Amino acid sequence: MICADIDEEKVDRLCRGEVPIVEHGLERLVVEGLASGKLRFVLGAATASKDSEFHYLCVPTPQGQDGSADLSYLQAAASEIAPVLPTRSVVVNKSTVPVGSTEVVGRVLGRSDVSVVSNPEFLREGTAVADFLTPDRVVIGSSDQEAAIRVAGLYTKVRAPIMVTDPISAETIKYAANAFLASKLSFINAVANLCEAVGADINDVVLGMGYDHRIGKEFLHPGPCWGGSCFPKDTLALARIAEDAGYDFSFLREVLRVNDEQFDRTAQKVIDALGDDVKGKRVGVWGLTFKAGIDDLRQSPSLEVISRLIAAGIEVHGYDPAVKGPISEVPALNVCSDPYAAVKEAEVLVVLTEWDEFRWLDLDQVSTQMAGRAVVDARNILDGHALRRRGFSYRGAGR
Ligand code: UGA
Repeated sequence: MICADIDEEKVDRLCRGEVPIVEHGLERLVVEGLASGKLRFVLGAATASKDSEFHYLCVPTPQGQDGSADLSYLQAAASEIAPVLPTRSVVVNKSTVPVGSTEVVGRVLGRSDVSVVSNPEFLREGTAVADFLTPDRVVIGSSDQEAAIRVAGLYTKVRAPIMVTDPISAETIKYAANAFLASKLSFINAVANLCEAVGADINDVVLGMGYDHRIGKEFLHPGPCWGGSCFPKDTLALARIAEDAGYDFSFLREVLRVNDEQFDRTAQKVIDALGDDVKGKRVGVWGLTFKAGIDDLRQSPSLEVISRLIAAGIEVHGYDPAVKGPISEVPALNVCSDPYAAVKEAEVLVVLTEWDEFRWLDLDQVSTQMAGRAVVDARNILDGHALRRRGFSYRGAGR
């Protein structure tokens, strides 16, 4: 396998077996692949493609100005490889692209002797290796059955259903899956808000709902709501795709609105815990990444909440096991090197990302460091009883 990138430094590091992102199990695979000679990293897509049978396009499709996906990286990669593609080779698109993009790639390539197949990815950051090796399904979309079957042949060792469909359906599956998961999270966060209003416990509600196998227990943890490099842009992009096709998918706008409102609600809980006149008061935050187990801050719910606190005049100190400061999106945030330093002199401790290590920290030390006695646990991971025994007020999410 030959992997190409346009970033020379990244390619050099990968050639030395250094993985530039936090991704469980990836470094071992890269080191083993390099040692066996089965894996190589090169600069430039054309170098990788010139003698290959399959060409996977895995470039970013960031959010464009109007909410639709920006296809410029995809088009650039396709134009670069077009002249060097061997006859009968297959270009496989893994990037998340608007409906109709398989055809766009085909047009950019301008090669009638080369096929284009859509093969969307369903990998989560942090667990991408495991997700790839044991997927729930493999989706392949092409109008060329023979090319689709050849791509399906690459997955024969993977134990999962492989479905072959047309390219437009494959592209829709990717967006609909992400938007559905985002909707599930907006829904459960709204239920958590309801639990707070009526005095129910969201943990029990989720358990009781989740025993119904049609609902399932997964992806129902309430929090400061959802973020990351995929859900926000893909949900917006799907709404945009629908609008362009003449369908008003207003449901998705509501899903996005609930998410934004949840950031406000979480910030408001902190403001309420600080009492009157919050200006200049200090808050300690645990967790900055958009979820645990990664070092990615893109569209992080934590940063959304922190920005709102800073805008209210609050001094925020934060800690995250995977982040060293400063952070350009929130320059006023003081990034600390350990969790106890982050809560020093703080009036309120706020948990915004569900890193496991936060469960096991020394609450007595936290208590000694802090000036105030309030905890807002937006991920429901701390022991509320243990905190109350130490004189803290404790507010979770939905209980
Ligand atoms: C998401 C999808 O889960 C993948 O299937 C998809 O392939 C990927 O996007 C993509 O399109 O590339 P990812 O962005 O890595 O994966 O993150 P998730 O694990 O889905 O989490 C997204 C957000 O939802 C995070 O902010 C997380 O904290 C939040 N979340 C997730 C909750 O608040 N509660 C949950 O129960 C689960």
